[in-house]
Amino acid sequence: MTELDQSLDPSVNPSAVFEHKHTIDRDCTTLPRHVLQQLQSFSPEAQDLSAIMNRVALAAKLIARRLTRAGLMEDALGFTGRTNVQGEAVKKMDIYANQVFISSFEQSGLVCRLASEEMDRPYYIPENCPLGRYTLLYDPIDGSSNLDININVGSIFAVRKQEGDDIDRTAQDLLQDGRGQIAAGYVLYGPSTVLVYSIGKGVHAFTLDPSLGEFILSHENIRVPDHGPVYSVNEGNFWQWDESIRDYTRYVHRHEGYTARYGGALVGDFHRILFQGGVFLYPGTTKQPEGKLRLLYESAPLAYLIEQAGGRASTGAQEILDVVADKLHMRTPLVIGSKDDVALVESFIENGRRQALISPKAGN
Ligand code: AHG
Ligand code: MN
Ligand code: MN
Repeated sequence: MTELDQSLDPSVNPSAVFEHKHTIDRDCTTLPRHVLQQLQSFSPEAQDLSAIMNRVALAAKLIARRLTRAGLMEDALGFTGRTNVQGEAVKKMDIYANQVFISSFEQSGLVCRLASEEMDRPYYIPENCPLGRYTLLYDPIDGSSNLDININVGSIFAVRKQEGDDIDRTAQDLLQDGRGQIAAGYVLYGPSTVLVYSIGKGVHAFTLDPSLGEFILSHENIRVPDHGPVYSVNEGNFWQWDESIRDYTRYVHRHEGYTARYGGALVGDFHRILFQGGVFLYPGTTKQPEGKLRLLYESAPLAYLIEQAGGRASTGAQEILDVVADKLHMRTPLVIGSKDDVALVESFIENGRRQALISPKAGN
């Protein structure tokens, strides 16, 4: 036996067992296993959540695979020529990713309905009911404008329990606040594909290991710093904002310690802030007074995550998780990130509101 053989042989070198075990354990913390560990249970509900996350991971892997080769494929990129229920131009990848989530959950026995920003009404899977009384809400591709130039995009999702039978298929029970979400997360298709999720027990990130085809735990219990240098907002809308948001941006321009980052995909901008602190905002504009982001598919899932990570999400005047949806595709202004930075934006908005009460023309 050579010296190397001896050092690797557990019967000669017991620490070899530990080293191998350590590496294998780390590589084996897959998403479904992590969910069960988090819940410390094999109850039917824990098994359901674990299986749902596994299906989300499958959808993410299929989308990531297509994105990786999209530039070489016919018909993967570009527009479809159609607009969605919100009047936005639909891309081929939006449709593909939307369908991938549906296919991943069909015949799964897991969810009864899927609601997505790319579908006017929820997609029902009656054969999964009443076994899987859950609903998946999702934004299949977030940051679609980045698709054709090979910059990061994402997917966002949330899971809610279905209430009632929804026999008339109006999905009224989805018109609630965000506190009813039982899981939420996103997938970032960047240099690595990263899946970040919470089931109400902290926020955890998994990185796709392409050689294994598995998401492996890479960051556990992520905490967002109370303050960070980044402010992330589309300043091209400056003259369409309320004066209070203009005042906030003037403040960060004039004070040291702030830097701007804006990538055109909420998931990417949010991911930076989750790890490094700061604030992302998409305020209302003159054209879109409620902003651009959708409550049920974008703002509420990310609000759930940021609260779990010790940060905050607000419309500027109300916690995002307290906003009750008035329709499926409702939009809300969004201010999300580090506690102190969200509070700073809110203080400008509150100040603007008070000024407007004193002299009604000041806010315009
Ligand atoms: P989507 O691609 O799902 O429609 O979302 C795009 C959103 C969000 O990802 C991003 O932060 C924002 O739109 C960018 O909008 P602007 O181009 O108006 O800045
Ligand atoms: Mn989006
Ligand atoms: Mn989208």
